[in-house]
Amino acid sequence: MQRAEVRTLAAGGLSMEQAEQLIENVIGRFSLPFAVATNFTINSRDYLVPMVIEEPSVVAACSFAAKLFRETGGFQTGSDEPVMIGQIQLLDLDDLRVAEAQLRARQADILAEANAQAGSIQARGGGAIGLDFRHIPGTPVGDMLVVHLLFDVRDAMGANAINSALEHIAPLMERITGGRVNLRILSNLSDRRMATARGVVRAKSLETESAPGAEVVSAIIEAGVFAECDPYRAATHNKGIMNGIDAVVLATGNDWRAVEAGAHAYAARDGHYTSLTHWWRDDAGDLHGEIALPLALGIVGGATRAHPAAKIGLQMLGIESARELAEVAAAVGLAQNFAALRALATDGIQRGHMRMHARQLALAAGAVGGQVLLVAQQLIDEGNIRLERAKALIAGGFRDT
Ligand code: MEV
Repeated sequence: MQRAEVRTLAAGGLSMEQAEQLIENVIGRFSLPFAVATNFTINSRDYLVPMVIEEPSVVAACSFAAKLFRETGGFQTGSDEPVMIGQIQLLDLDDLRVAEAQLRARQADILAEANAQAGSIQARGGGAIGLDFRHIPGTPVGDMLVVHLLFDVRDAMGANAINSALEHIAPLMERITGGRVNLRILSNLSDRRMATARGVVRAKSLETESAPGAEVVSAIIEAGVFAECDPYRAATHNKGIMNGIDAVVLATGNDWRAVEAGAHAYAARDGHYTSLTHWWRDDAGDLHGEIALPLALGIVGGATRAHPAAKIGLQMLGIESARELAEVAAAVGLAQNFAALRALATDGIQRGHMRMHARQLALAAGAVGGQVLLVAQQLIDEGNIRLERAKALIAGGFRDT
């Protein structure tokens, strides 16, 4: 990393002028820690992974998990072509089947019209590639034909490209069907744009002081099945996965709300909210995990290049495509899930968390510099991790003795 980049990150990444270019009514900036997760080997390549997150332990847990997966060759990942779905809501139609047939007959014209808006994306090999039709009869506002425009957005997240194309083709759709278009907007359930990651952790590497590796493997698999069967657990399990994925999404200037929406809608795709990961054991007794989720991420457009810290995050990854970024994020999600399940299925997570919590209390109580760690350690040693105690220690001039 160059000196200028180090300075940019230390200064919070975004100048006041840049903040004002991004959104409206800006009165300041709000910083979060920018960290680096280590030990990631993905498809035989090593990565340093930028993560932006305020929650303690996430980056450390992720790096530790990646180290265990690395012992067996790291993560293997995959991804679909970057195809986004845009929706057009057609109403006031006499017959949904007739309207669909009319649109199918003119599909080539509709795609050509959509591509007239595709600009640089088409020059890079992307653009509109197809239509899909969904019938929703008997709604409170009548029968509905939902047309999906499938649009290859290449290295962009693609929201602007697809929304422009949808607005552009809507009048043609009305002319073809005689119906009325209401909404024209992308779907955040971007399940044509899936990313997957899988990996193996040796049972031997999971041994603890009190449990053999095989027992820990069993406990992690049991935890995984719990999330697959129970939506109350799945919500927390998936939240842990998103701790990792969101941190990468933020560090690269991508839209984490879009990714969150897509992940949770996908987790509920069968009408039963479930886990985004699956864990099992092989014949040798080692632990296998895999993750699959929609990941609409870009490496061009949006804040990816406008935010100086995001630019640094992307450079650090050294990736060449939006698909590669999605695959890295999927691997981070799997690593994060593994780390959480391992901790939960062995010691519980509170021991590590309380250490970080003690540091946060020391900071909140006004500790500065080296005093932070000293006060935090004292709170832990006393088993009294409370803000009042931290304040009392500082007021008493607490120093190392
Ligand atoms: C905390 O941010 C995330 C966990 O609750 C995830 C999980 O329970 O799997 C530890």
